[in-house]
Amino acid sequence: MPASALNVPTILFGGDYNPDQWPREVWDEDVRLMKEAGVNAVTVGVFAWSTLEPREGEFDFAWLDDVMDLMAKNNIGVILATPTASPPPWFTLSHPDGLPVTKDGVHYIHGSRDTYNPSAPSYRNAARIITRKLAERYAGHPALLMWHLHNEYGTISYGPHTDAEFRNWLIRKYSTLDNLNKVWNSRFWSQQYATWEEIFAPQATQYLPNPSAILDFKRFCADQLRVVLDDQIEIMREVSPNTPLTTNFMLPTWNHFNQWDFAADIDVVSIDHYLDSTTMDGEAHVAFASELARSFNNGQPWMVMEQGTTVIYDYAAGRVYPKAPGRMARNTLQYIAHGSNSSLFFQWRTPLTGAEFFHSGMIPHTGENTRAWREIVDLGHTLHQLAEVTNAPAHNSRTNTAKIAIVWEPDAWWSAETPAMPSNDVAFLPALREVHKALWLEGFAADFVQLGAPLEGYDLVLVPNFIAVSDAQAHNLTQFVRSGGHAAVWFFAGSTDENLNVRVGDTFTAAFADLLGIKVDEHWPLPTGEFRELSNQMSGFSWGESVATTTAITLATYRSADLKDKPAITRNTFGAGTATYVSTQIRGTELRALMREIVLNAGIDKTHPQAGDGLEIVRRFSGEHTYLFVLNHTDSSHTVSASGYELLTDTPITSQITVAPFGYAVLREDTPTR
Ligand code: GAL
Repeated sequence: MPASALNVPTILFGGDYNPDQWPREVWDEDVRLMKEAGVNAVTVGVFAWSTLEPREGEFDFAWLDDVMDLMAKNNIGVILATPTASPPPWFTLSHPDGLPVTKDGVHYIHGSRDTYNPSAPSYRNAARIITRKLAERYAGHPALLMWHLHNEYGTISYGPHTDAEFRNWLIRKYSTLDNLNKVWNSRFWSQQYATWEEIFAPQATQYLPNPSAILDFKRFCADQLRVVLDDQIEIMREVSPNTPLTTNFMLPTWNHFNQWDFAADIDVVSIDHYLDSTTMDGEAHVAFASELARSFNNGQPWMVMEQGTTVIYDYAAGRVYPKAPGRMARNTLQYIAHGSNSSLFFQWRTPLTGAEFFHSGMIPHTGENTRAWREIVDLGHTLHQLAEVTNAPAHNSRTNTAKIAIVWEPDAWWSAETPAMPSNDVAFLPALREVHKALWLEGFAADFVQLGAPLEGYDLVLVPNFIAVSDAQAHNLTQFVRSGGHAAVWFFAGSTDENLNVRVGDTFTAAFADLLGIKVDEHWPLPTGEFRELSNQMSGFSWGESVATTTAITLATYRSADLKDKPAITRNTFGAGTATYVSTQIRGTELRALMREIVLNAGIDKTHPQAGDGLEIVRRFSGEHTYLFVLNHTDSSHTVSASGYELLTDTPITSQITVAPFGYAVLREDTPTR
């Protein structure tokens, strides 16, 4: 069943609640504070396996019974988790085969989390047992709101169980070793396989591994995570069929599963998303994650399962920064503007010790008399005022303002990460984030789609990075343009088929040869930081190509000696539409200018005439009303033309509204009263 809407009468507000980690007397204090803040939903038991099953086969549900009853008594819904992301220490001793093995052959044991191998029957069995026990005990409990299956699926393991399942997966895909040997070109470096047993999950080896094998392994790992997710879904649908199911996607950095496949199996998409920048890049990132979540969830209301309260997580730099006052609430409204029906946090109470003891929580270490807690209470009040928007799905490109779709393909990401690519700058996530950010700064909204999915309803499809394109995907994009759509395709796209086999022919763009009306006979990767000037005053970084036009026109040429006068950006009229090709990496404000030109060429409007440059203006639509969210991410005030009823100040608005620096407003349009 494809993901559907989170139908709730009010915005879910709360967070991961771990009462099992605190003395009983703290629970009453928790309830008092939850009521003060207007918390109406908590996520319980995410990592509670060792408390629920302290010894294999011995269960202790007494404490969870108490928590569920306490929450029911206080009208707080429970999003009850299956604790399967963190097997207890007994699992290590009883089922050492079920633990993960790294690429280098290191056997992990417990001590952190995610110590399991999704291919190990012992893990799958233990996970099924605890899932069924929970389902049988709590199905129908008055506090039960949803099932939260596992936490952030994403564990990769090597080792014998993985080898066996990988072989089965390959047999299903290729049927014969001849097919596999051909697609993998396994004669290269003498890797031809004579029996299936000779194939192993691609663990550490002497030098470059086979890219086609690596891509297949990534696909297999994603499918295997879907298998363990589906183990739990099957049990829940049998034992607790009336309660919606979700699992939290770690966005956008986590790429170990196929988000589209997961979304098709669960009821509602939920995401974990942590602000990662002290600058407005953070807000661009919130919009990026939100538009992804909305797209994974078919444009229907989705959930923020986790965000941080007072800190910004710069994982790459290994540090956190304080979040400015008010920013948490503004970000929360951003998620809601893009269709979230929840604002949940990691976590309710900040732990005093243990891993992550300095991550933020709704109740900080320093307690109630803090700005952090006051902001939580204020946010609870704000969300209460916005309850009616939960009836309104997110704005959806097919029906409303945004008509742009960006291609998000797990395969594209995995392909870009395989070894032996001509440049490390051929990266998936940064390319998509840059393009999305340029659109966001220009005031446009975008959906994300798969390249093989139906594209009608969109005016413009963007393919910022997609190496390994299948014939069917290329055909889909070609048909879309033929029948009047517009497309923009970036360098290196379609250079190979879906199995990383270079396409035969006289152009690297063979997959899109007619569509683009160009030939590319040579790639021209550039050293890091180097660029080539283009005739339109832009600079091209990272990559160039030797392009010749066949039917396309040239929008800009290279000016440098090496690629002199060769086309750098082209546009082909094809059927009733156009296809733009960008053979190099355009960045920053120049990318904004390029995106503006491409979008205007497709005849697309901004979300609001004044949107852009950090003034984010987006709508949610219900059958009855539209809701206009005006989010000012800048340090100056903005007056925006709008009319309706402002829900946060309870004020009718006749023609315009002024929004303070870093402020926001939410209007029910064209209905001047509450
Ligand atoms: C999430 C995870 C939580 C917690 C949080 C801290 O990704 O699901 O359990 O670790 O990060 O930022």
